[in-house]
Amino acid sequence: MQKHQIGFNRRHFLKTTAIVAVGASLSARSWAQVAGANDDIRVAVIGFGGRGGDHIKGYTGKKGVRLTALCDCDSNILKGGVAMQKDKGNEVESYTDIRKLLESKNIDAVSIATPNHWHSLGAIWAIQAGKDVYVEKPVSHNVWEGRQLVNFARKNNRIVQAGTQCRASRQGIAQAVAWVQAGNLGKIVISRGLCYKRRASIGKVDGPQPIPANIDYDLWCGPAAKLPLMRRRLHYDWHWVWNTGCGDLGNQGIHQMDIARWFLGETALAPYVISVGGRLGYIDDGETANTQIIFQGYAKAPLIFEVRGLPSKTDAEDMDKYKGASIGVIVECEKGYVTVPDYSSATAHDPDGKVIQSWKGGEDHFANFLKGVRSRKIDDLYADVLEGHLSSALCHTGNISYRLGAQKKPDEIKAALKVDKGMVEAYERMVAHLDANEVDITKTPLSLGLPLRMDPKLEQFIDNAAANAMLTRPYRDAYVVPAQV
Ligand SMILES: NC(=O)c1ccc[n+]([C@@H]2O[C@H](COP(=O)([O-])OP(=O)(O)OC[C@H]3O[C@@H](n4cnc5c(N)ncnc54)[C@H](O)[C@@H]3O)[C@@H](O)[C@H]2O)c1
Repeated sequence: MQKHQIGFNRRHFLKTTAIVAVGASLSARSWAQVAGANDDIRVAVIGFGGRGGDHIKGYTGKKGVRLTALCDCDSNILKGGVAMQKDKGNEVESYTDIRKLLESKNIDAVSIATPNHWHSLGAIWAIQAGKDVYVEKPVSHNVWEGRQLVNFARKNNRIVQAGTQCRASRQGIAQAVAWVQAGNLGKIVISRGLCYKRRASIGKVDGPQPIPANIDYDLWCGPAAKLPLMRRRLHYDWHWVWNTGCGDLGNQGIHQMDIARWFLGETALAPYVISVGGRLGYIDDGETANTQIIFQGYAKAPLIFEVRGLPSKTDAEDMDKYKGASIGVIVECEKGYVTVPDYSSATAHDPDGKVIQSWKGGEDHFANFLKGVRSRKIDDLYADVLEGHLSSALCHTGNISYRLGAQKKPDEIKAALKVDKGMVEAYERMVAHLDANEVDITKTPLSLGLPLRMDPKLEQFIDNAAANAMLTRPYRDAYVVPAQV
C-alpha cells in the first residue's frame, strides 16, 4: 500500500475512533440535544463547477444551516466561489484538497458534487472524519465502492443522502408509486426508464491536451487513472469516458433508473442483465454509448432502460417521445400505465391513454438532508445512500454487460434478445430511431452486450471473472477506497 494513504488512514483512524464514539451517540439522540437547539449545521460544498452551485444555493438562506467551507481543485472556480460568498458577507474556509478540508473543526456535513469517480471515496473519507454527507448521483463509479459507502455510513452512524432529488417528489411521484403498488392498475408488466437527451459530439483531438494551470490534475483524477487528457474539455465531458464517467445511463439516466426501480419496489440488484448499444452518428473522443438499451431481469417484471443521445431524426432539434416522455419513466401495467415525464409529477392512464389520475409536487431535497442530520434517523431521508447505491449499481451492471459485448449483425442481435419480447420491441424502436438518423447499423454495428447473471445477495456476477473484475477498479496510490470498514 502507498505511503500517503497509510498516513492519511492512520491519522484518521485515531481521529475517527473518537469521532465514531460521538457518532454512535448522535444516532440515538437528536442533533438539537447533542449540539444545542441553536447550533447551526455547518456545511462544506466539495466541487462546484456546475451542480455544486445548486448545492450552495440549496443551503443558502435556510434557518439553522451555514455554509462554512468550499473545496474545488480548480483554483479559478474556488476563488470565484469564495469571492461570491464574501460579497454576501459570508467568510468561508477554502480548500483545494478534500483531505485538508476534512481536518477542519468547522464542518458538520459535506455536500459532494465532484465528478462521479470521486463520489464514494470522498464520501467515505468524510464519514471517517465524522461528517454527514449529501453525495451526488451516481453515488459510485463502480458497484463495490457504492456498497462500501453504504457499509461505512452504517458502521459509523452517519446520515448519507443520495442526490436523486426526484425522491423528494412526495406529493407527485411518491403518491403514484404507492398507488401502483396498491394494485390500482394490476401488476406491473414493464418498468421502463427513458433518457432521450441530446448529446452532441464532444469533438476529436489529435493528441494529449494541456492541463490548465488552475487545475490540480492529480487531485482531479483522484481514484481514477491519471491519463493524458484526450478531449477538448476537461470539465463535464469526463461523463463520456469510462475512466471517470458512466455515460448518460449513469448521468441523467440514474434519476429515471431510480424511479423505475422505486415503482418495482425492488431492493436488490437484478439477477440478470443484458445491454445493447453503441456510440453512433459521429466519431469523437467519447467512449460511452450514446444509444443503449439495458434489460434488468427482475423476476416479477423487467426494468427496461433506453438511452438516446441522437435527435428524433437527422438535423432535428427535438428528441423522440415514448408515451409522452423523453426523459421519464413509463410504468406499464396490466390495466394501464403511469407516465413520469419530469422530476415531480406522474399521470395514470387507461390502456387507451385516457387520463385516470395525476399527482404533482415535491419538496426540497437539501432541506430533507438537513432534517435527517438533525433527527439522526435514516428513515427521515427521502434518498438514503442504500437506495442511491442500488440504482447507481443498476447503471454500472448495464454498462458492464455492454462493455464486455461485441459488435454483431442486426439479425444476430434480434435473435439474442428474443428471450424477452419487451426487449425485442425496444430494440426495434431503437433501430428505427437510428435509421431516422441515417445510421446504417450494417456499416457501424451495434454492440450486443454479454448476458450476465448476478447473485444479488453477494453483488457478484455468477461465473464470469471478467465481469466481476469490473465491479471495482484499480485505485491509484493515495486514493484507495478502503476495503476494511
Ligand atoms: N442531481 C442532479 O440533478 C445533478 C445535476 C447535474 C449534475 N449532477 C452530478 O453532479 C456532479 C458534478 O457534475 P457537474 O456537471 O457539476 O461536473 P463539472 O465537471 O462541471 O464540475 C465538477 C467540479 O468538481 C471539481 N472537482 C473535481 N475533483 C475534485 C476534488 N477532488 N475536490 C474538489 N473538487 C473537485 C471540478 O474542478 C469541478 O469544478 C456529477 O456527478 C453529476 O452527476 C447532479
